[in-house]
Amino acid sequence: GLRCVVTGAASGIGAEVARRLTDGGAAVTALDLKAPEVPVERFVECDLTDPASIESAVDELGSGWNVLCNVAGVPGTAPADVVMKVNFLGQRHLTELFLDRLERAGSIVSVASMAGFGWPQRIEQIRDLLATDGFDEGVAWLRDNPIQGNAYNFSKEVVTVYVMSMGLALAERGLRINAVSPGPVQTPILGDFEATMGKENLDGVRDLVGRHATAADIAPSVLFLASPVSSWVNGVNLPADGGIGGAVVSGLV
Ligand code: NAI
Repeated sequence: GLRCVVTGAASGIGAEVARRLTDGGAAVTALDLKAPEVPVERFVECDLTDPASIESAVDELGSGWNVLCNVAGVPGTAPADVVMKVNFLGQRHLTELFLDRLERAGSIVSVASMAGFGWPQRIEQIRDLLATDGFDEGVAWLRDNPIQGNAYNFSKEVVTVYVMSMGLALAERGLRINAVSPGPVQTPILGDFEATMGKENLDGVRDLVGRHATAADIAPSVLFLASPVSSWVNGVNLPADGGIGGAVVSGLV
């Protein structure tokens, strides 16, 4: 079976991904602030806002991995620096330290969001942040370049472009990286999205497809990209939004 690391496995989408991977015969190590309730082979405590915590987690993990699922994330109700650290800078730090620990044909899957859809409008800024080398440089860049609007959206825009930009470089090493972008999902942070987006907007999005997604609607897309069956898919963002994004982009809504 595959040896997989899943961040955010203590809740929501990450828990569902960890559970399904384990059910499919994979050996899952969970990285999170708290231990998961779903059965996993191992739990390693890790705070993605803290580069030292990420480094010691990676040391503990050792090598011989096949999959890294970056699922952990925080909503826009958290302070902007925490949002950027968990959703992008910490994730990038972990991913880059992890590359040497992945076996050939290894796969990285990041959960981005429909909230990252607006990346083309901010591509210059995103390229600038992506050009920073490491966690601390990223923090310094963010200090000098305050984000306009919601940090959550920006963090997801950056992750989306990060994944796209890394595909080719990883292909040279026999690795892949892809993203899954859900629309709203019924997990403990849905209430936070109601607070940041406004109830009417969130209800409006729900009404386009009749309901919000569940973690069970999202996890299979993560598993597909983690699995070798998607071997020629690299550097893409796969929306898993029930059709909402397509309707928005094509101007139908
Ligand atoms: P959740 O709140 O149920 O799970 C998030 C997990 O991340 C938790 O286990 C939490 O402990 C962990 N986490 C938070 N801060 C951390 C830190 N500093 N270090 C390590 N782990 C940390 O949320 P959910 O909904 O399962 O979200 C998973 C991913 O899906 C996130 O990246 C989120 O942005 C994304 N997403 C969620 C949507 C939704 O409507 N629920 C919509 C689109 C994307």
